[in-house]
Amino acid sequence: PRELTVALLGGGTVGSQVARLLRESADDLAARAGAALRLTGVGVRDAAKPREGIAPELLTDDLEGLASSGADIVVEVMGGIEPARSLILAAMAAGSSVVTANKALLAEDGGTLHAAAEKHGVDLYYEASVAGAIPLLRPLRESLAGDKVRRVLGIVNGTTNFILTKMDEDGADYADVLAEAQALGYAEADPTADVEGYDAAAKAAILAGLAFHTRVRGDDVHREGITSVSAQDVAAARDMGFVIKLLAVAELVDDEKGVVVRVHPAMVPRTHPLAGVRGAFNAVFVEAESAGDMMFYGRGAGGAPTASAVLGDIVAVARHRLAGSRGPGESTYAHLDVLPIGDA
Ligand code: NDP
Ligand code: HSE
Repeated sequence: PRELTVALLGGGTVGSQVARLLRESADDLAARAGAALRLTGVGVRDAAKPREGIAPELLTDDLEGLASSGADIVVEVMGGIEPARSLILAAMAAGSSVVTANKALLAEDGGTLHAAAEKHGVDLYYEASVAGAIPLLRPLRESLAGDKVRRVLGIVNGTTNFILTKMDEDGADYADVLAEAQALGYAEADPTADVEGYDAAAKAAILAGLAFHTRVRGDDVHREGITSVSAQDVAAARDMGFVIKLLAVAELVDDEKGVVVRVHPAMVPRTHPLAGVRGAFNAVFVEAESAGDMMFYGRGAGGAPTASAVLGDIVAVARHRLAGSRGPGESTYAHLDVLPIGDA
C-alpha cells in the first residue's frame, strides 16, 4: 500500500488536533488521499512535556531536522515569523509540499514562500490561515478564477467577535472575556494580534491578494482594533439598534485604480446578517461581477475547526503528490496599488 509522510511543526491548539485527526481518521484519510498518511514527528519547544493524543516518541525539539527530513508534506502550525519562515523554506528545499495556518507570515512575506514553492515545484496551501474552518481561500483561488471579484467584506477574527458578542449580550468586562477566548484556544499566542487588529489585517491582506490577483502585505492594511471600544459604546450601539463588529474590507476602487484594504470596528444594524454572527464564528461576503453576492459562514477559530481546514489541505496536497501535479501558484498579474482609505 502506498504511504505519504507528514511532519508537523507545532503541537499546540491546532497541531494537537491535526495529530488527533490524522490518527483517528487514518482509514478515511487514506481512502480519500489515495495513500496512508504517516505522521513522522511533531516539533515543539518542550519535547518532554506530555501532549494529549500525541505519542511521546513523536515529539521533538529538533524542528530544523524535522522540517528538512524530506517528508512528503510539512505542516507548519507553530506561528510567528521566525523560525517558521526558515523552516518552511528548508522544507520546500528538501522537496516537501507545505501546508500552513500562519497568516502572520503569509501577510508579511508570502511572496518569498510562493517563490520558493515555484522554484522547488511543490505545493503551498493555507486554507486554515483565514476564517478557520470556512472554505474560503480555495473558492477564491479556484472556483472564482473565471470571475472578477470586486469586494470582500466580513468578520475574520474569532477572538474579537467572541469578546464583542459577550460585551453585547452580557455587558461582560473586556479583560475577563479575553481570558475566556484564550482558554478556549481562539486567541493568538500574543493576543495583542487579535485585539489590536493585526490578525484581521493579515487575513484581509491574504484575502485581497487572492481576490484581486495582486500582492498585499499586512502592513499595507489600514488597521484599528477593538481596544478602545468600551462597554458604554457597546450599550449605546445596542440602544440605537446596532451591534459593533470588527470588519475587514477589501475592495477595488475606481475600476482598478487600486485597492483599499481596511480593518476597523463598525456599527452594524441588528437586521444585517453580519449582526447575527456571534461568538468565535466568522462570516465573509464576496461580491463578484458574474456570480453576484456570496456569503461564507462558519467557525473562524479553535483547534478542531482549524485542524479540519488543515486536513483538507493535507488531502489536496497528498493527491497532487501522488498524481505528480501541483495546485495553483500565486496569481499577482494585476499589480494593483494599495490606496489610502479616503479613496474608497
Ligand atoms: P499554540 O501556541 O497553541 O501552538 C504553537 C505550537 O508551536 C506549540 O506546540 C509550540 O511548542 C510550537 N512552537 C511555537 N514556536 C516554536 C519554536 N520557536 N520552536 C519550537 N516549537 C515552537 O498556537 P495555535 O495552535 O493556536 O496556532 C498555531 C498557528 O495556527 C498560528 O500560526 C496561528 O495563527 C494559526 N491559527 C490558529 C488558530 C486558532 O484558532 N488557534 C486558527 C487559525 C490559525 P510548545 O507547545 O512546546 O510551546
Ligand atoms: N486568533 C485567531 C482568531 C485564530 O481569533 O480569529 C483564527 O485565525
